[in-house]
Amino acid sequence: MKEKGITLRDIEGIGPATEAKLKEAGYLTVESLAFASAKEIEEATGLSYEKALEITENARKLLGIGFMTAEEFYKKRQDVGYISTGSKALDSLLGGGIETQAITELIGEFGTGKTQLCHQLAVNVQLPKDKGGLGANAIYIDTEGTFRPERIIQIAKHLNLDPNETLKRIYYTRAYNSDHQILIVEELLEKMPKFNARLLIVDSIVSHFRSEYPGRENLVVRQQRLNKHIHDMHRISNLYNAAVVVTNQIVASPDVFFGNPNKPVGGNIVAHGCTYRLMLRKGRENQRIIKIFDSPIHPESETVFTIYEGGIRDVEG
Ligand SMILES: Nc1ncnc2c1ncn2[C@@H]1O[C@H](COP(=O)(O)OP(=O)(O)O)[C@@H](O)[C@H]1O
Ligand SMILES: [Mg+2]
Repeated sequence: MKEKGITLRDIEGIGPATEAKLKEAGYLTVESLAFASAKEIEEATGLSYEKALEITENARKLLGIGFMTAEEFYKKRQDVGYISTGSKALDSLLGGGIETQAITELIGEFGTGKTQLCHQLAVNVQLPKDKGGLGANAIYIDTEGTFRPERIIQIAKHLNLDPNETLKRIYYTRAYNSDHQILIVEELLEKMPKFNARLLIVDSIVSHFRSEYPGRENLVVRQQRLNKHIHDMHRISNLYNAAVVVTNQIVASPDVFFGNPNKPVGGNIVAHGCTYRLMLRKGRENQRIIKIFDSPIHPESETVFTIYEGGIRDVEG
């Protein structure tokens, strides 16, 4: 990518003091500033809004992210691929399925089906395009130890796929701590082509960060690291036209970091970093209600799907 070798100091208007403030707030790369809003930078750093605006504009200039015509942008969007979720209702809510060139965040309390959806997508991405896949492999980063090959086999069977072939096309790794998790994604920046993968799953993105950086005193470091991690994932999604799917927990008890009950973990860094945010909650029996919110192109709306032996599907009847 372009910014290799480019530092914050190459941005017009950033001296040592401003650089220090930005870094402390988690803005480590030119790219992170180019994609941030002035308001967000103002809040995170204490710099004036005008200064923050100048910085974002100059960062974009430096990266050559200036104008493209809407037609050029539209052409880039034509390359976006969609992975079916297994539920037509959910696919249509998403405008076709889980998108490439984007990060989709699945948010919900324990047992709401986040991991089930991840399993389903790891299989569905392998399907040919006319069956709702991308004819490609999946990478599964598991931080909680909840991935189950047995589940993949069940899902594959219901799709009349060879279970063993399906398993072979999912590259699985456990991430044992946040350093390890960050490193795995960093390495993927270069190694992604070896896997022929168009889907990267991180289930869950925040659990290690949460347990390793408790308390307000660790907030800045945690934010910085999460920010970098998410930017790496964006680069992967754009470089390789891949879909990135991450899960995030809702903590029902007050969150020690932000004091907000029933809010997704990870604060603004994760909220702003993800392209699409989906909130899951339990419905009747095996039904799950899923809502898309904060989307740049979707109206806020929700639908229902079912978890069954074969994975994810529409509610019957
Ligand atoms: N084989 C299966 N058949 C039907 N439902 C299942 C099956 N396996 C898991 N589930 C459902 O999935 C739920 C767990 O979802 P999961 O994705 O693990 O939640 P989380 O959001 O915590 O990741 C269980 O409560 C169960 O209802
Ligand atoms: Mg889970």
